[in-house]
Amino acid sequence: MSATVLSPHLRASHTGQGGLSNSSCQTPSIAFGRLRRYQSKSLIRRGNMRLTAPARSHSFGLLRIAEEVSVVELDDTPSRGVVNGQGDGKGTMYFSENQLGEILSKMVIVVPCKDEQLSVIRDVISAIPTGCLVILVSNCPPQDYPNQTEMLRLLGQHGRQLVAVHQKDHGAAAAFLASPLSILVDPTENTIRNGKGEGMLLAIALAAAFCPARRYIGFVDADNLHPGSVTEYCKAFAAGFAMPQSAAGEDIMVRLKWASKPKLREDGSFDNVDEGRCSRVVNPWLNKLFTASGYQPSTTADGATVPFVTTGNAGEHAMTMGLALKLRMAAGYAIEPFHFVDLLERGLLMPPSPRAPLEKTNGVINGAGGFKNDTVPPPRALDKPVHVLQVRTMSPHYHRATDDTHIRKMWAAGLGSIYHGLAEYRDSTPDSEDGAISELRDKLDEFARDNLHGESGEKNVKQELPSPRIYPALEGIDLAAFRHQLEGSVKNGSLRAYGLVR
Ligand code: GDD
Ligand code: MG
Repeated sequence: MSATVLSPHLRASHTGQGGLSNSSCQTPSIAFGRLRRYQSKSLIRRGNMRLTAPARSHSFGLLRIAEEVSVVELDDTPSRGVVNGQGDGKGTMYFSENQLGEILSKMVIVVPCKDEQLSVIRDVISAIPTGCLVILVSNCPPQDYPNQTEMLRLLGQHGRQLVAVHQKDHGAAAAFLASPLSILVDPTENTIRNGKGEGMLLAIALAAAFCPARRYIGFVDADNLHPGSVTEYCKAFAAGFAMPQSAAGEDIMVRLKWASKPKLREDGSFDNVDEGRCSRVVNPWLNKLFTASGYQPSTTADGATVPFVTTGNAGEHAMTMGLALKLRMAAGYAIEPFHFVDLLERGLLMPPSPRAPLEKTNGVINGAGGFKNDTVPPPRALDKPVHVLQVRTMSPHYHRATDDTHIRKMWAAGLGSIYHGLAEYRDSTPDSEDGAISELRDKLDEFARDNLHGESGEKNVKQELPSPRIYPALEGIDLAAFRHQLEGSVKNGSLRAYGLVR
């Protein structure tokens, strides 16, 4: 019987499962001490990398989005330095082990997980560069959680710095209830709502509250079946932050586009598709959104249009912690496309001064749920530039297969976050920029009616785009109070930390 899960809620479900031995509880860890702030042990630095040099950026007020760059070498000789015009005529940039290691040692990598096999999650975590602090935010069945924390405990013995929290931790829910993000908590269960976006929000708050020295936060899915790609993802995040335009103090987001997604055919062969089924729908609409906001496509020397937004659904992305606290986030799988919507609205469309509360439903655009929280602070216009970098990796992305219903829900949530997120601009005059957005919304609506069908996929039941719940920025929460509240989860809940020193 395990004693590693301390939440009464979780322990009850675990009774009788066997699983972990008592000896596992005796290993000293700060999980059994009073939790203050996590600090890093000595740094282990690794990783060279070469990318194509930063391409053109397009500005939308304070939002700057760079055209995609690509990883061209996963390891390289440090002596070459920056090299221009190699082979394909493009400039490339070399990032040294020290440069990337320095950034990785200031990075938290969040691994959201739900029902993946333990060995798959372990391999993903093992592939994260050791300088990074890892937060496993789990929404697994309660009986599986002790095995996950035991796996982390073992990894922590080899120098990794690891934190685990369960999304259904009552202490975590209580910490949010006392904050402007109380809408993250499902009032019927008194736990944080289900959803990938919700788990990521919990992890960001945890990182900000307990690891204030970590400047960057990245996200990698737990269902990755090719762990080597995870090492590349983290290094690519660091390379993005090391790009020359990523000046100190700037708000930066690095979004990854996988080289391909291999699809296994029945005859055993692989098709390497360039874009996933969801991205194929969401990216073109984001491009239309930016075109409606003044984007002029670039062309290559031979006249081809340079792809612009290629990372609408980038599950693998990273950002400066300041930006993570500033962004409003969408529920579930709408979280990634909504980044663009929030940044466009707050960087370009919104007037510079803060709007009065309640003018828009306080950041909550959930029509379906219909709830409102009058205490939620309204979104504010950006006060400094945000740079979005898009990086194409060398590794393909192998993950668990999902069915068409899942994919349809995912793109519908993404498009819904554009449609409802920009509802405020629906009455604008047609010849203004806002008017173009209003036209785009009409077309989105038409697309949804033609392509979205009922839950069971019946062809004749046409639907409107869903309105994903939007959470206000985390910057509104009192991190000291949040930390204080969550300290109880070390003893009485699911919060664990391994390989860390106080
Ligand atoms: N903590 C937590 N809570 N994690 C969750 C939850 C949840 O409620 N739901 C899903 N996850 C985790 C999964 O366990 C997995 O590790 C990761 O989030 C991605 O979930 P998948 O279900 O595998 O998503 P997907 O493969 O269809 O989509 C992924 O790629 C898209 C781009 O193609 C996601 O990362 C999407 O967000 C992304 O847009
Ligand atoms: Mg997946």
